Amino acid sequence: MPLRLGVNIDHVATIRNARGASYPEPTRAAEIALLAGADGITAHLREDRRHISDADIDALADLCRKRGKPLNFEMAVTDDMVAIALAHRPHATCLVPERREEVTTEGGLDVVRGGNRVRDAVQTLKSAGSRVSLFIEADPAQIAASADAGAQVIELHTGAFCDAARAGEHERAAAILARLTAGAAQAAQAGLEVHAGHGIDYATVGPVAAIPQLAELNIGHFLIGEAIFVGLGEAIQRMRRLMDAARAQAEQAA
Ligand code: PXP
Repeated sequence: MPLRLGVNIDHVATIRNARGASYPEPTRAAEIALLAGADGITAHLREDRRHISDADIDALADLCRKRGKPLNFEMAVTDDMVAIALAHRPHATCLVPERREEVTTEGGLDVVRGGNRVRDAVQTLKSAGSRVSLFIEADPAQIAASADAGAQVIELHTGAFCDAARAGEHERAAAILARLTAGAAQAAQAGLEVHAGHGIDYATVGPVAAIPQLAELNIGHFLIGEAIFVGLGEAIQRMRRLMDAARAQAEQAA
C-alpha cells in the first residue's frame, strides 16, 4: 500500500505571528509542499488561533481545491469548530484533543470518555462529506471506541515513540513501537484506515513507515524547522525518500 505524506504547515504561521507580519505565508508553504510531492496539506485551527487563522483556512481550502489535493483540517471537538469545518467542507477532518495551556497536542483524544460528543461530531462531519479521523493513542479501547463512533480513520499519536527514540531510550521506544504496530493491526481489522503522526523526524520516520497498515503520515514541526536549513521542498523530498525506502524494505522482508 502506498504511504501518503501530509505536510502540516502550522508552524509557518507560528513564525509569521511571532512578528505580527504578513509573511511567511502558509499558502506559499503549501504550494511548495505540494510541488515537492506532499499528498496533502494539514492545518490545525486552534481555538486560541495561536498559529493558523480563519483566513489561512479560507486560503488553504481554496488552494487545495484548485490543486485537486486534500486539505486535512485538524480541529477540537467543539460546536464552533464543527461549524467552521462545515463551512469549508474539507476533504478530511481530524479531531484532536486541545488544551489551551499545552505547547502542542499532548496525547490522544479520549474517545472512550468522549461518548456522544465525539460520535455526534463524527456523524455531522461525515454527513457533510468529510473523511473523519480521530487522533488517538494506540490503546485497544480507544481504537475500538473510534470504530464504534463511526470514524473512517484513526491517526495514531507517535509523539511518545519519537521522544523516547530521540532520548536514546531504546527499550521504551521499542515497547511503544510495538503498541503502535499492534494498534495499527487492530484498527485495520476493524475496517479503519490508519494514519500516524506527531514528532516524526528523519531518524524516526523509518520504523513508523514500516508499519504495514499505515496509509498516511502527517509531519509538520520537523519539516518546517529543517526548511530553514535546506528549504522546504528539499526537506519534504528527503522525508519522502526515507518513508518510501522504509516501506519498501519492510515489504521485502515480509
Ligand atoms: N498529526 C496531528 C493530529 C497533530 O496534531 C500534529 C501536530 O499539530 C501532527 C500530526 C504533526 O506533528 P508534528 O508537527 O510534531 O510533526
